[in-house]
Amino acid sequence: MTFKKTAETLPKGAHTLERDYYVNPDILQKEYENLFLNNWICAGRSTELNESGQYKVINMGTESAILLRDEEGNLKAHTNVCRHRGTRICEKETGQFSKSIQCGYHGWTYGLDGELKGAPHMDAVEGFQKTDYPLLSIPVAEWEGFIFINFSDNPQDFDTAFAPLFGRFKDWNIRDLVPMKTINYEVAGNWKLVIQNYCECYHCPILHPDLAAITPYLGGRNDLHEGPFLGGYMDFNEEKESVTASGHFCCPPLKDLKEDDLKRVYYYSIFPNMLLSLHPEYVMYHTVWPDGVDKCKVECTWLFAKDVVESEKHHTQDAVDFWDMTNKQDWHISELSQLGIQSKRYSPAPYSGQESLLAAFDQYYLGQLDKNN
Ligand code: FES
Ligand SMILES: [Fe+2]
Repeated sequence: MTFKKTAETLPKGAHTLERDYYVNPDILQKEYENLFLNNWICAGRSTELNESGQYKVINMGTESAILLRDEEGNLKAHTNVCRHRGTRICEKETGQFSKSIQCGYHGWTYGLDGELKGAPHMDAVEGFQKTDYPLLSIPVAEWEGFIFINFSDNPQDFDTAFAPLFGRFKDWNIRDLVPMKTINYEVAGNWKLVIQNYCECYHCPILHPDLAAITPYLGGRNDLHEGPFLGGYMDFNEEKESVTASGHFCCPPLKDLKEDDLKRVYYYSIFPNMLLSLHPEYVMYHTVWPDGVDKCKVECTWLFAKDVVESEKHHTQDAVDFWDMTNKQDWHISELSQLGIQSKRYSPAPYSGQESLLAAFDQYYLGQLDKNN
């Protein structure tokens, strides 16, 4: 959504991406291979999987993971591919296993740890050992209560990848926050348009007059301006306290925040599929999922302190309503962008000084896209 840009952070000649990056299925394929299946992607909140056997399925391109809480209480992710004849095992997005995972084709049955426990009639097959056919595991990591998974065969160490963010948001105690609301959106636009839109507030006065009245679009600063993590903060107008329908706190501010952080909203994009927005009294995050070159799915969740969610006496809906309206404005303009960029008449144009984070995103994106070539 941000920010005040200084001319020196905008590389000379920086311009929007070529049309191909928004319409070409071969590029989408490369994005799956080199970005989404080769990086840590946000897969939701740890609190979504509280009970042993509780699971959610994460689909990304050709790949699918069963993310679950095992009997010891650990988060695990298994490849959603039966080791017999390769059938996708779980179809439902979420659910609860009793103590095992059974393939619906011939009944091979796996423990929550992924070990093959039962394989009808396979004992008669010479040399067959159940231990040779567990569900293949997928690396999982947790940061601030967010779950990340990595479909790569050779994943980068999570702690190394996320080191620049460790400790950065500790005063928000995000780990302890719980979801108040999740809304799923379908956007008829390339996934990058959603991220690029989030990375600037040049559009705020025109598209979001209500938001511009809370955070003046020139008030703020980027504090992460290159690499996989981009963003910074915007200051509230003097008479405003937060991004809500009323412009005031919708519940008490988070208890450990320093004075400066009570006057700001922070926005970060976390490559490749997460957007994180930190307000004085709540945290909102989006995850973005490509669904073809000209479509994506976006999930948006609002996190609050547990006692706030439990008490129900606060105006938390004010935060949800405000951002739901703003989200829809952003998705709509992103859809119009997609339509315009699809035209053969589209051609790249220079970014403004207000769009330096987009230039930084594009640069990092292009580097990642070509990384393995
Ligand atoms: S494909 Fe899963 S049991 Fe046969
Ligand atoms: Fe916006």
